[in-house]
Amino acid sequence: MAKKTIRTGIVGAGFAATFHYSCLQRLYGTTADVVGVFAADAGQAAQYAKDRGIRAFDSLDALIDAVEVVHVCTPPVAHEETAVKALARDRFAIVEKPLTGYFGDGRADFNGDTFPKQRALDHALASIERIIAAEAKSKARILYAENWVYAPSIQKEREIIEKTGSQILWIHGEEAHSGSHAATYAYWKFSGGGVMIGKGCHPLTAALYLKRVEGLARDGRPIKPKAVSARAHAITRIPNFRDAGHIRCDYHDIDDFSLMHVVFEDGTVADIFASDIVLGGIHNWLEVAANNHRSLCNINPNTAMQTYNPREEYFKDIYTVEKIGTKQGWSCPSPDEDWFTGYPQEMEAFYRAIAYNDPIETPTALAADCISTIYCAYVSNENHGAEVPIRSF
Ligand SMILES: NC(=O)c1ccc[n+]([C@@H]2O[C@H](COP(=O)([O-])OP(=O)(O)OC[C@H]3O[C@@H](n4cnc5c(N)ncnc54)[C@H](O)[C@@H]3O)[C@@H](O)[C@H]2O)c1
Repeated sequence: MAKKTIRTGIVGAGFAATFHYSCLQRLYGTTADVVGVFAADAGQAAQYAKDRGIRAFDSLDALIDAVEVVHVCTPPVAHEETAVKALARDRFAIVEKPLTGYFGDGRADFNGDTFPKQRALDHALASIERIIAAEAKSKARILYAENWVYAPSIQKEREIIEKTGSQILWIHGEEAHSGSHAATYAYWKFSGGGVMIGKGCHPLTAALYLKRVEGLARDGRPIKPKAVSARAHAITRIPNFRDAGHIRCDYHDIDDFSLMHVVFEDGTVADIFASDIVLGGIHNWLEVAANNHRSLCNINPNTAMQTYNPREEYFKDIYTVEKIGTKQGWSCPSPDEDWFTGYPQEMEAFYRAIAYNDPIETPTALAADCISTIYCAYVSNENHGAEVPIRSF
């Protein structure tokens, strides 16, 4: 069968737009004809377009009209608006994580530290409902880009659960960095929260996904999250934090450390850490304790390769692994970091869904459950960790 070619547009021209584009070059079941890019920062869009020989559009509407699918690679504050516009014109929307959220009351001086978090939960749930309604009306759909779900170690775990009928008793996992590179991330009004949503969404969604897989394999219905207790802290903003120059510490009104304890409807549990205070390269892993096996899914770092480098300068032109502080001494260079992270696999799945209607692993309900759980977690944190019931989708 001849490969289908899909006309594609990228919205945003930063970090995510860069890896989305490079993964499109690795598609094998379809071909992406990347028509152009639109970004709020016109200069950045022009450079992105020039580097790739594509067109920089001066309006989102014009880009949407020219393509069949848009990649929503904007800060979270623009996800809903961009995706809903695309869906309204029957264009597919590949939406980066987190799906949506609450971004304040529109005031420039909105402060994420001090407003009542129930408001965030209510608004985030309303945003989810608008997205789900737009999707229901559209001939196209949302393709939720949570790469952890497509990471090879998580997909291997899916196979184990499905083929052995596992019951997952406890999942624990973590996404930890030494800080975000995106300037807007420091502000709740652009990010919709701090590390609990920005990084916590990754291991949380993988945990929610695996419990779905377990339920679907056993009796045809997903096992949903029921309640969450959580704590979040702003450790780099405590007055006695001592900045040694290794950890980003210019956050305005967001958390940089968080823990969510999720109870599922079958009584089993997950503990999800997320932080922006950890040195030594990003630390992304998920451990599954099941009734018939135990798995440790190492997303980053992993030991596919271990290298000893006696002098920093030898590796000055060599990328090893994300956010590593030094390349001297022993390190674990990732031979294909995108692959271990699940980026090319998610793009392959999405383009097959668009072209051939193949199923995907990240339905909008999974993305919605992640958002619902996280904003319930912010409500819990406001009440010093009291348990909050989760509305699932
Ligand atoms: N899956 C992952 O591993 C991963 C990694 C990084 C970022 N992300 C996600 O990707 C998204 C973008 O993050 P980033 O790190 O690329 O940010 P970034 O700051 O590097 O880039 C954001 C881009 O969006 C543009 N933009 C801002 N507002 C816009 C709007 N209203 N309309 C159109 N363009 C707009 C900016 O001009 C910029 O080009 C976020 O949702 C983030 O959570 C995912």
